Amino acid sequence: MRLLKSSELRKLYLDFFREKGHAIIPSASLIPENDPTVLFTTAGMHPLVPYLMGAKHPEGTRLADVQKCIRTGDIDEVGDTSHCTFFEMLGNWSLGDYFKKESIAYSWEFLTSDKWLGIDKDKLYFTCFAGDADAPRDTYSHDRWVEMGVDPSHIFYLDKKHNWWGPAGITGPCGPDTEIFYDTGKPKCCPECNPSCDCGKYLEIWNNVFMEYNKADGSYLPLAQHNVDTGMGLDRTIATLQGVESVYDTDAFTGIIKTIEELSGKHYKDSPEITRAFRIVADHIRCATFILGDPRGVTPSNVDQGYILRRLIRRAIRFAMQLGIPDNKLDAVADAVIAQYGEVYPELTANREKIMTELDKEETRFQKALRNGTREFERIKGSFENGVIDGATAFHLYDTFGFPLELTEEMCEERGITVDKDGFEVAMEEQRERARAARSSDETAWAG
Ligand code: ALA
Repeated sequence: MRLLKSSELRKLYLDFFREKGHAIIPSASLIPENDPTVLFTTAGMHPLVPYLMGAKHPEGTRLADVQKCIRTGDIDEVGDTSHCTFFEMLGNWSLGDYFKKESIAYSWEFLTSDKWLGIDKDKLYFTCFAGDADAPRDTYSHDRWVEMGVDPSHIFYLDKKHNWWGPAGITGPCGPDTEIFYDTGKPKCCPECNPSCDCGKYLEIWNNVFMEYNKADGSYLPLAQHNVDTGMGLDRTIATLQGVESVYDTDAFTGIIKTIEELSGKHYKDSPEITRAFRIVADHIRCATFILGDPRGVTPSNVDQGYILRRLIRRAIRFAMQLGIPDNKLDAVADAVIAQYGEVYPELTANREKIMTELDKEETRFQKALRNGTREFERIKGSFENGVIDGATAFHLYDTFGFPLELTEEMCEERGITVDKDGFEVAMEEQRERARAARSSDETAWAG
């Protein structure tokens, strides 16, 4: 197997699919244009939804790309070995062109041929959809893998929870998938250990989705065309193939981690706490840099994408403080991100000024918020009944003083007080509703 750098995998993937007649399309914006069901583009398919539904794509019926993606559902997990909020997804699409037969053959060739990745086939494991009331068992994919030379003991049938890609919203294109895993060589966690285990023996490297349904009103209707949608996480695949502990130990992060070492005077692997803080700063500033640098980029605010951006920057600042990084130095980390990615994503270089200014402004705002919020917290903390801070008060600290909920929680924890998180979420949702109502009355005013 070839030990690749992330830039090499990116290039090999696109070269391979170009050879197979695919047009290479640029990454779409991180802020979705074609799918209102998501705040950020969370997978390569989101920008392509209209084409999966039958619209004609100007570049044809075979496409491949490297799509910038953001998933913040697991933001609190960032700092471990595998979670990142920003990632790049390698993908190839058939828009009513080829289907399972070619899709599986392409994946097999790319992964195992010495001309491409040259992975030992015995290290690969596969899962296929087991079938249910909505769609039949995917025996075709199973048999096609066997035809390729896969030992049937390496193929597992799993249910919808594992082997189905559905729309993030309520409706949209979807279908069964077949997933490809790499065996790390770790011992089995139990006799039944299989790719659905999260024990870390089998790591997913690629997902081929066969989009042949449209989910509408809870039922699955056949789509007029059969599509293929695949996704391979760039950093994770590199980390898996290199056998390194985490994505942060791949070449994509070398320059970023080195910059944090210089700023903090600490070493990345000094202690588990330090390693976690390094990873959080690295991940969050990488993600924030991409959001700010996006052609449809947003700036920090208290709603929607702007709120996520604010949360990322403020969380990065808190962990930077923990590492002893002086104030207003995170622009150097953003510069390391631009140095790593500017060639592939020229918008980062083009928007460097904006990225730096917004990071700096947000950091200054946050320092002020920290001072005022801490004062307010100390002033009101005596009034918390039964050692519980109610949701409305936690929200007041957040909304008026820009005090992140997790900061309130940490300060409460030190004082033996708990926070009503559900109450906070209710207050937050009410705020979103107010913002939405304000926006739609703006739109009405424009229309009038
Ligand atoms: N849409 C599929 C995924 O993101 C390929 O896993």
